[in-house]
Amino acid sequence: MIEIKINNINFLVKKNISILEACKYVGITIPRFCYHETLSVAGNCRMCLVEVENNPKPISSCTRPVENNMAIFVDTPLVKKARENVIETLLLNHPLDCPICDQGGECDLQDQTKVFGSDSSRFFFNKRGVEDKNCGPLIKTIMTRCIHCTRCVRFGTEIAGVDFLGTLNRGTSTEIGSYTTKNFSSEISGSVIDLCPVGALTSKPYAFKARPWELKVNETIDLTDSSGSNLYVNFKETEVMRVLPKNNTEINQTVISDKARFSYDALKNFRLQKIFIQSQTDLKFFETSNWPSLLKWLDVLLFSKPTQKILFVIDEELDLESLTLLKTIQNSFPNNITIRFHQKSILTLNNTFLSWTSNKFQDLKKDSKYCFLLSSNVRLESAILNAKLRNKVILQTFDVFSLGQNFHSSFPLKFVNISLNKILKLFEAKTSLASLLLKKESPLIIFGTSLKKRLYGNFNSLDFLKKIIPSAIVLEITKSSNSTIAPFFNFNISSTNDFKIADIVCAVNLSDNISLRKNFFGLKKEVIWFNTHGSTISKKSSILIPILTGFETETKYINLEQRPQKTLKSLNAIGDARDFKKILKALYSKKVSFKKEYSLNFLNEIIEHPNKFKTLTNKLSSQTLLTSPYLKNKNFIMNYPLKSSLEDFYLSNLFTKNSKVMAQCSQEV
Ligand code: SF4
Ligand code: SF4
Ligand code: FES
Repeated sequence: MIEIKINNINFLVKKNISILEACKYVGITIPRFCYHETLSVAGNCRMCLVEVENNPKPISSCTRPVENNMAIFVDTPLVKKARENVIETLLLNHPLDCPICDQGGECDLQDQTKVFGSDSSRFFFNKRGVEDKNCGPLIKTIMTRCIHCTRCVRFGTEIAGVDFLGTLNRGTSTEIGSYTTKNFSSEISGSVIDLCPVGALTSKPYAFKARPWELKVNETIDLTDSSGSNLYVNFKETEVMRVLPKNNTEINQTVISDKARFSYDALKNFRLQKIFIQSQTDLKFFETSNWPSLLKWLDVLLFSKPTQKILFVIDEELDLESLTLLKTIQNSFPNNITIRFHQKSILTLNNTFLSWTSNKFQDLKKDSKYCFLLSSNVRLESAILNAKLRNKVILQTFDVFSLGQNFHSSFPLKFVNISLNKILKLFEAKTSLASLLLKKESPLIIFGTSLKKRLYGNFNSLDFLKKIIPSAIVLEITKSSNSTIAPFFNFNISSTNDFKIADIVCAVNLSDNISLRKNFFGLKKEVIWFNTHGSTISKKSSILIPILTGFETETKYINLEQRPQKTLKSLNAIGDARDFKKILKALYSKKVSFKKEYSLNFLNEIIEHPNKFKTLTNKLSSQTLLTSPYLKNKNFIMNYPLKSSLEDFYLSNLFTKNSKVMAQCSQEV
């Protein structure tokens, strides 16, 4: 620590930080435009000028490090005059756009002009014009408003790994733009909207929709992938206007994926809003809003015969509370009710409800030198984890190897052409490459769900990898928002036989895919479709029941670190949609006691006190791949190249598939 004086008051601050950071540390805010905590220092806007004793001119506080016994003055008349002049220069060519600018009300230039700016202009010439740039369907540009702070340029090169934007020309002709016409091809491109301190880069889908003071704010989590990014939902009356990142230093910091930020239009697009029932006479669907008679009718349908077999086919994205209710119902009717996941990625080895086997995002900070990607295109599967890896590659000596699968990465990646059999031998320390893995530095191993699929789900990968390389940091990227927890309920994967045996099939929250379609088409059973949206499969159903999305109900999910978090209700139910948990309780409450089975209280504890999550330690189950029968029989391993479970970043589940904005992005890519 060193001692400095700010406005004649003594403070002890850290060494090797800038004056701006030292002032922030002691609670003094210095105005700035180009400085941002997550980016390198550019020092080009000059808004952060302060006076330092024995310096003839004001100096920029973001570039100058503190020194012992330095005397700093942050609000002298000279500093105020300097800031006024900087604002005047920035406004020389700035349009008088505030009334029609989407940044109005939350604009740094507007705010700082109000505090430091002059009341009149001395500029009587024509303002210069700058052509707007095409940044794709998500980012709207009005480049006359740009103040050349270069935050967007630095974000592209330093965080997103895309050299899309740059500074063109010099002096009064300076512009921000790209040399060639191309898309901002990044999964986190929307973050430039948050970073731009003015209205040069704003959200295209939000354009002219609302003013910041009209919006209400709620907190929730991202359900479009397994990262569980924290979000702010801005809504006006009954509509979500935009989604912004909520800073969570342990998960997403201030970055969210474009899917999380822009797919909210699916809340209205093609939403199931009514109950649809197929008439027995002409097979046409009629709509109804009469929940009481539907429940009575379902009661007759589900409980008329004591031998009736009901199959619930569910998706990994189903929330934790619904999964526990279904488990309780199944336990109460073991001969009548079967619950199955429709995806092959599920393993059923572990009976523990939650074993905390996964490593945490915070472990990425450890001093590992190597990262091995197994069957995972981390860029598409978890944009947040990808940004963290890129940061580590840039700042440290850190090599990333993708084993068996090559993809277009946003950071330098070494592709190793290797088969799955060889990879498994490698982990058994049978090849020379194994020595690399077993070095003292904890290697980081990231694998996708498709690896488990290849091993027919017969692979408790986390435990296996941790046992062979105890120092390894192992992260499994799953496709859905809740899939790391799904295995612990021991619901098997659905088979054609399940469909044959069942009298009634209840399809809950399913995303449409080819393997599922095979089972549904030609099915001559009563099919009840519980979902937020329809799909090709829903056409084969006899009853369509609308349920709520994560924006409309409070419920719990587990992210890829096995961190429990909850969504909060931002909107009222749309149309006749109801919470799936409530529907289950209404149907089964007279026959099942829901209190007996799993209690989620221990998760609530972590949700309410997130710091407790840090202290949870990994537990390993006794079952490992080494003892599993499949290694003795290599035919268990399917013989085709490794590949990622996700091919289209934007259209990854039924919700994003119903977003017009995501469809447009997918098309542009
Ligand atoms: Fe006004 Fe800020 Fe928009 Fe400029 S960027 S027009 S100052 S709101
Ligand atoms: Fe800064 Fe925005 Fe201009 Fe980029 S577009 S340089 S972020 S003002
Ligand atoms: Fe210091 Fe821009 S914030 S020069």
